[in-house]
Amino acid sequence: MLARLFLITSFFLPLLVSAHSAFWHPSMFGFDVVAETFDYDNRPVVPIKNMEFNKWWFHNHLDHPPQPGVFFELPAGQAATAEIACNKGATSYFNSSEGGDIRDPNNPNNVCPNSPTTAYHTNGLDDVAGCALAISYTSDERAIQPKDFTVFSVNQTCVWTRFTDFHVPARMPACPPGGCLCAFFWVHNADSGGEENYMNGFRCNVTGSVSDVPLATPKVPRRCGSDDANRKAFDVPSNCTYSAKQPFYWFNNERNNMFEGDYSPPTYGDRYNFLDGAQDDIFEDSYDDLPDPSPTSALPILSNITDQLTASLSNLPSLLDLTDSLARRNFDNSTEYRALVTSRERRRRPRRYSTPSRLAHSQVVSK
Ligand SMILES: *[C@@H]1O[C@H](CO)[C@@H](O)[C@H](O)[C@H]1NC(C)=O
Ligand SMILES: *[C@@H]1O[C@H](CO)[C@@H](O)[C@H](O)[C@H]1NC(C)=O
Ligand SMILES: *[C@@H]1O[C@H](CO)[C@@H](O)[C@H](O)[C@H]1NC(C)=O
Ligand SMILES: *[C@@H]1O[C@H](CO)[C@@H](O)[C@H](O)[C@H]1NC(C)=O
Ligand SMILES: *[C@@H]1O[C@H](CO)[C@@H](O)[C@H](O)[C@H]1NC(C)=O
Ligand SMILES: *[C@@H]1O[C@H](CO)[C@@H](O)[C@H](O)[C@H]1NC(C)=O
Repeated sequence: MLARLFLITSFFLPLLVSAHSAFWHPSMFGFDVVAETFDYDNRPVVPIKNMEFNKWWFHNHLDHPPQPGVFFELPAGQAATAEIACNKGATSYFNSSEGGDIRDPNNPNNVCPNSPTTAYHTNGLDDVAGCALAISYTSDERAIQPKDFTVFSVNQTCVWTRFTDFHVPARMPACPPGGCLCAFFWVHNADSGGEENYMNGFRCNVTGSVSDVPLATPKVPRRCGSDDANRKAFDVPSNCTYSAKQPFYWFNNERNNMFEGDYSPPTYGDRYNFLDGAQDDIFEDSYDDLPDPSPTSALPILSNITDQLTASLSNLPSLLDLTDSLARRNFDNSTEYRALVTSRERRRRPRRYSTPSRLAHSQVVSK
């Protein structure tokens, strides 16, 4: 009995440690990298940690670029659907996978068929930590630096479904003639696997652009939200980084920008002011005032970007979402916030806003 248990365990363990997850698309660097391509297992799904810069940056896949002209499209103001899986054979691109088609016929959204969810580092839907897409307005993969990436979309319910939507900000400007460079980033929670990062770079292009305002220079995100595990009961909104933020570079030997400990991983969620969905406040003109964050700083003041948006009515929902998000941060449990939420369905046109506080107030009095 014991021997049989041991056999079962040793059979499943290699499957578990070989699982993890990657963003899969022909626009990616390393799309055809298999376990034997490098002198170590450098498949796109393998996590990166404790590595020198060249080994973690773009997953060391810069010599394995996508075919010319292949881009992952980012429709401004709409969702781009990515495929995230623990094996290429579990995606639409199974036909170029070593193991062939392993997609789950009963559940096309299965991230890792025949494996428990711990194979992609979650104990369940309430334990997912979120992932992010970042962009840089350059097409030169040899020139791009870590500080050049800006997170433009977050899905906080990630990694959970193979098909994962990333909402693209409505005001994303067009890319240069050679397209843009993007990357998928993910750090999972501490309770389902060791500390590690994921990064897959790919070529991307913004389509349907209606704005030419550039992105702001991205800054390092800050841990400003409540954190039960570390006995921090309240959000500290003035301590957040607002506007454009870099991805997390964590737990490698070189060029980290985050220095959190093993059990406090930086994750793409509210705790670091990475709100779910499009990051609509990442542009040069998104704020009128953006004080340096600290627990005692003043809150930033959003600019009147309404005029930039009149060009396209379809952009308004994301503006309103941003407004709500800021109001939510600042007025968590206040009566103003509750009034704002209850009046949400009744809104039909955008309102002028300057400070989040004035916004919440005007929402309440204008009813
Ligand atoms: C895989 O499928 C894609 C599109 O469906 C096709 O373009 C490609 O040639 C196929 N590759 C192989 C190795 O069959
Ligand atoms: C996250 O992805 C899921 C699955 O595609 C999707 O249903 C959800 O709307 C996405 N969330 C956001 C905020 O885009
Ligand atoms: C990017 O998309 C725009 C808008 O559709 C298009 O005009 C441009 O040619 C695309 N760029 C590349 C490199 O394909
Ligand atoms: C403020 O942010 C810094 C940087 O992430 C973090 O170390 C610190 O704990 C935060 N303080 C509060 C009170 O949120
Ligand atoms: C804000 O933008 C709207 C729409 O363009 C404009 O009517 C309004 O005057 C602006 N308000 C301020 C204070 O700039
Ligand atoms: C907000 O209200 C909810 C429900 O009343 C409560 O559980 C929570 O502790 C409150 N949060 C803060 C920060 O006061």
